[in-house]
Amino acid sequence: MVEPEVARAPVYRVAVIAGDGIGQEVVPAGIKAVEAAARGEFRIEWEHLDWGTARLHRTGAMMPEDGIDRLRAFDAIYLGAVGDPSVPDHLTLWGLLLPIRKAFDLYVNLRPIRLLPGVVGPLRDKGAADIDMLCVRENTEGEYAGVGGRVHRGTPHEVAIESAVFSRFNVERVVRYAFELARTRRGHLTSVTKSNAQQYSMTFWDDVFDLVKHDYPDVATASLLVDAAAALMVRAPERFDVIVASNLFADILTDLGGALMGSLGCAPSANLDPERRSPSLFEPVHGSAPDIAGRGIANPLGAIWAGAMMLDHLGQQSAARRMIAAIEATTAAGEHLTPDLGGTGTTRALTDAVLGRLAAA
Ligand code: NAD
Ligand code: IPM
Ligand code: MN
Repeated sequence: MVEPEVARAPVYRVAVIAGDGIGQEVVPAGIKAVEAAARGEFRIEWEHLDWGTARLHRTGAMMPEDGIDRLRAFDAIYLGAVGDPSVPDHLTLWGLLLPIRKAFDLYVNLRPIRLLPGVVGPLRDKGAADIDMLCVRENTEGEYAGVGGRVHRGTPHEVAIESAVFSRFNVERVVRYAFELARTRRGHLTSVTKSNAQQYSMTFWDDVFDLVKHDYPDVATASLLVDAAAALMVRAPERFDVIVASNLFADILTDLGGALMGSLGCAPSANLDPERRSPSLFEPVHGSAPDIAGRGIANPLGAIWAGAMMLDHLGQQSAARRMIAAIEATTAAGEHLTPDLGGTGTTRALTDAVLGRLAAA
């Protein structure tokens, strides 16, 4: 007989795109951790989609023509990584990940930058208490708008244009999201631009930021140029709480953030539609890492943490907290850490360690 509690447990449908390279290794780890955290409180129906570069070689496209429409029916999307040395990156990324972010208007890309307990970061005098920030990356326009072209290809007259696009509607909503988030944390928001050189778009961003800030007198703010911000993240990471920045700047700063975390392999990300009109997408920050793919040594923690962010978004906060606590307990014990974290562990051993903590919690 089915237990009544089990019968009432919500069921979520999640589209899984493990993708390329180590995406195939870290996504199964994340799924196992989500399953272990669920404990019958909810169920997930995972639908595995074989979209990615192998499919491109087989069929000529990274995803089916109706791919976006098919994804629309899911509660969330869980992605590994996209990109393979056999195909130019702009074709694979513009064939899958970037169209999904745009089509579903996933305008917030939320990226925690936090040094996990026990992990030795690269900064000599900075520990877990100093490195705890949350980057809000604009995720649908800016430098990634996709507006431009190349003409007179291969000739001495060749011209390439790629225009950054910033709209008031979009900048305002992402900045507002960041202010709201800052209110739930230490009450500090840093806006990162490059207004000294980009005299139109970035001064516009600054103007919108200055306007919105009047609605949040309780949040302390700073505005930094991106070059100075990069240096400050290394020199004094404790000065950052929430960061808001354009698509490209935040892309770069969050890889720097990954380095501050001791490895890019630890960094998670949530591509969110805060209005919940479409499925949001959860993925580690890192890519397909062809240099280590297939060796079973990829760090699964970023993917597992992204799975926790997915559960949080789906309304399963307790399970999400259990997953984060399991990650923290595992790194604090320093057991089975993968080589990127200075250990000799494998993806499987580190995943099993997290699963063990989840079982014990
Ligand atoms: P990358 O993030 O794949 O790798 C950078 C370095 O970090 C490599 O040395 C790699 O071994 C290491 N690394 C990354 N993740 C790791 C993990 N989980 N465990 C241990 N080490 C890890 O970046 P890249 O080399 O610039 O890009 C490789 C491919 O991935 C390219 O095709 C790129 O376009 C693509 N990419 C995709 C995504 C995505 O799908 N979201 C993100 C970034 C890069
Ligand atoms: C990321 C990645 C992507 C990005 C690439 C692969 C297009 O680097 O998610 O950080 O720049 O958004
Ligand atoms: Mn990136």
